[in-house]
Parts: sequence; structure tokens; C-alpha cells
Amino acid sequence: MKLRSKAAALLLLALAALLLALLSLRTGRAAPPAPLARPASVLPRRPVPAPARLPGLGALPGAGQGPRRRSPPRLRPRAGRRGAASLKKLVRRPVESRSFQVVLPHELWIHLAVVACGNRLEETLVMLKSAVLFSHRKMQFHIFTEESLKPEFDKQLRQWPDSYTKKFEHRIYPITFSVGNPQEWKKLFKPCAAQRLFLPVILKDVDSLLYVDTDVLFLRPVDDIWKLLRQFNSTQLAAMAPEHEIPKIGWYSRFARHPFYGSAGVNSGVMLMNLTRIRSAQFKNSMIPTGLAWEDMLYPLYQKYKNAITWGDQDLLNIIFYFNPECLYVFPCQWNYRPDHCMYGSNCREAEQEGVSVLHGNRGVYHDEKQPTFKALYEAIRDFPFQDNLFQSMYYPLQLKFLETVHTLCGRIPQVFLKQIEKTMKRAYEKHVIIRVGPNQMH
Ligand SMILES: *[C@@H]1O[C@H](CO)[C@@H](O)[C@H](O)[C@H]1NC(C)=O
Ligand SMILES: *[C@@H]1O[C@H](CO)[C@@H](O)[C@H](O)[C@H]1NC(C)=O
Repeated sequence: MKLRSKAAALLLLALAALLLALLSLRTGRAAPPAPLARPASVLPRRPVPAPARLPGLGALPGAGQGPRRRSPPRLRPRAGRRGAASLKKLVRRPVESRSFQVVLPHELWIHLAVVACGNRLEETLVMLKSAVLFSHRKMQFHIFTEESLKPEFDKQLRQWPDSYTKKFEHRIYPITFSVGNPQEWKKLFKPCAAQRLFLPVILKDVDSLLYVDTDVLFLRPVDDIWKLLRQFNSTQLAAMAPEHEIPKIGWYSRFARHPFYGSAGVNSGVMLMNLTRIRSAQFKNSMIPTGLAWEDMLYPLYQKYKNAITWGDQDLLNIIFYFNPECLYVFPCQWNYRPDHCMYGSNCREAEQEGVSVLHGNRGVYHDEKQPTFKALYEAIRDFPFQDNLFQSMYYPLQLKFLETVHTLCGRIPQVFLKQIEKTMKRAYEKHVIIRVGPNQMH
């Protein structure tokens, strides 16, 4: 009897070891960061899945990692990882664990586009750094820039540590207008400003795209904003945040001489687009009674409104969605948080509740003294040494800097800016405790 239970115990142990070995292949802590470690078999069922962990920062104690605990509900296979964590305690694992990656099909990558001209190189690199820093899923960067900036982008991105570069690939494109007569377009718009309107046409092979201005910073995983694509109903093909939370004092309601979306217009600094849908849609318009395809509509639309518009392409987008409101998904202000949301007093309720998710330091506030809270965040991410502990080298310095901003209205609500970063830190810390302290307790 005793012997039998011993044998059973041994069998159980062997099974546990086997299970552990299998699990460690997927969750290995020293496993190389890059593409999401995710069982290929679950991919087709959940094309926009919750990330399993934060790759790229795998071996860094302070770097955010660990399973996400927010909606959408996690997959069953991953729920087993808590158990795996305790199993892990039984075995001291070698520091260098084998590299094993489940290759994420390219369709499931996040596509991030930015248009950078003039002196926006550093700002753009800091934005991309924030994207890599907090995100889980593999990303494809589409960088549109002037010929003269290309080599520097290439050089700097290649200098990032492996744990970062493994999480993305980048492509650099010249500024082009592949529809109609490029020379004509270049004369009509400032070349760089209008580029984003042409992304659906230029990036023909890309299904969906997150476009951001260079002065945007991600304070939480890009995966989270990407998930909003799944919330589009059948007529929606793009998502933007309102230009202003209080329509009465917003710019559009007071000054615009052209139609604009909703009661306050929308801001185009953060734009989530299903390009497949944009390319196949027919858009209602004020020029002809039938619908027009995206690329056929841009030029006549510009011709019609050029004397009324102030902000170029953003105004055109507002006009387009004025005539096609059912096509736009309006996301809350925490996904495009600008100085306007706090400099007259806090007016972005979602950010008060959830924290700022995507920061947009427009009007140059990262580079002057007008909004020190925005500047502090920019500098904290810019100056974060790539391989360091996020707590010590980013979060603590940031808190100190925030103390010096309390004389401003934005500085009076530090929690709004820190909430999402704190969440990432917390996850990283919990993971750290399980991984680092866990095994030691056994000895
Ligand atoms: C974009 O829209 C197309 C056509 O409706 C759809 O097949 C595709 O899954 C959508 N992409 C995403 C990421 O939701
Ligand atoms: C999708 O949502 C938008 C905005 O709420 C709405 O105008 C549109 O009618 C919806 N489309 C469908 C098919 O329900």
C-alpha cells in the first residue's frame, strides 16, 4: 500500500516535471523576448488576444512583464500559469533558458505608422521607445520621413538593445503621394502633414494601422489600444478621440468654417484605422450624390474646402466623418490626452478613472516650460536607460519631477498621469517576486 502510493507520487512528480518542462518552453523567464510566446493553436480563434507577457524586457526585474489581468478574459491555457508558477518553485531553473518562440503570424502584428519631418527625429524615437517599452505583441513600424532623416532613424533604431529590437521591425518610407499627381499634392499640402491621409493607399498590404503623431507617448501597452479595433461595429473603419471634451469652448465649434464631426470635432493625432475597410468603402460626400472611394475623394474634397480649412488634413478628416458619422468609432479622451484636458482644470473623466493611456504633447509642450508635467514624462522615457530597472530609473525620477509641477493645473493631478505606468510596474513587480523570490524560498 505504502509502496503503491509512493509509486503514484513518483508518477505524479514525473508528470509535473513534464508539464513544467512544457510550460517553461512557453513562459521561460530568460526566454528571448521578441515575438509573443503564445500557442499557435489558439491564434486563429482570438486574432486580437490578450498578451501573455511583456517580451523584450524578460530578464529585467523592473521591466513590465507578466500576464495581463484586464479584459478581455484570458484564455484557458494561460490560466494554468498560476499553477505553473508554483510548480516552478520546485525546480531551480538555469539562468539561461532555451530560446523558444512561437512565431506570431504576420497578420497579428501591430502596425504603427508615424510621419516625421524636420526636427522631429528625437521625439519620434522616444515615441517608438515608449511603444516598445510597455507592449507585448510584435510590432511593425512604418516610418515616413524625409530622405535626410532616413539614415539616422536606421542607425538609432539598430543601436537599441536586442531585447528591444526583437519586438519590432521597421520600414522607412519616403514622403510620397501615390494617388493622383504627386507634384500637385505636394504643392497643395505641406508634404509631411498630408501624408497620413494616403496611408490606406500606400500601405496596400496592411489590414489595420495605428497612426500617431510624433509627439505621442504610450503609457500602457499598445496592445490595449489595438484591441479597440475589435470593438468596431460593421460600419466603423476608423477611431479617433474628440478634439475637445467641452464642445462650447472647443476650437471647431467656435472657429471652423467647414463641417466637422460631432459637436467638437475629432483630433487626428491618434488614429486607429481598419485600412481594408477604408479601401473598400464608398464615402458619402457633398460633391456628388453617389459615394466615392477614399482615394478618389481626397482631391475634390480638398479643392472644395481649401479656403475654409485651417489644420489641413485633420480638417479634411473631420469633413469626411461629418458626412459619414457611422464610419467613426469615437474613443475616450484617455487614448489621446492633451494639455487641453488639464490646463483649464481636469475635464477628461476617463483619464481620471483609468489614467492616461496615450499622452499627446501637442503644441510643443515636451520642449518648452508651459506644461512641465508633459515635459517630465517625455524626459523620463527619453532618459530611461534601456536595460535598467523601470522602478528605479523611470518611475522614481518621474515622481520627483512631478513634485516640481504642482504649481500647474496639470501637475495637480499626478495620479492621472501615473496610474497606467503604475499598473505596468505592479505587474512587473508581482512577476519579479514569483520568479526571483519564489525559487529562493525553497533553499
Ligand atoms: C478589418 O476589416 C476587415 C473587413 O471587414 C476584416 O476582415 C478585418 O478582420 C478587420 N481587421 C481587424 C483587425 O479587425
Ligand atoms: C456603428 O456605430 C456608429 C456610432 O455609434 C453608428 O452611427 C452606426 O449606425 C453603427 N453601425 C451599425 C451597423 O450599427
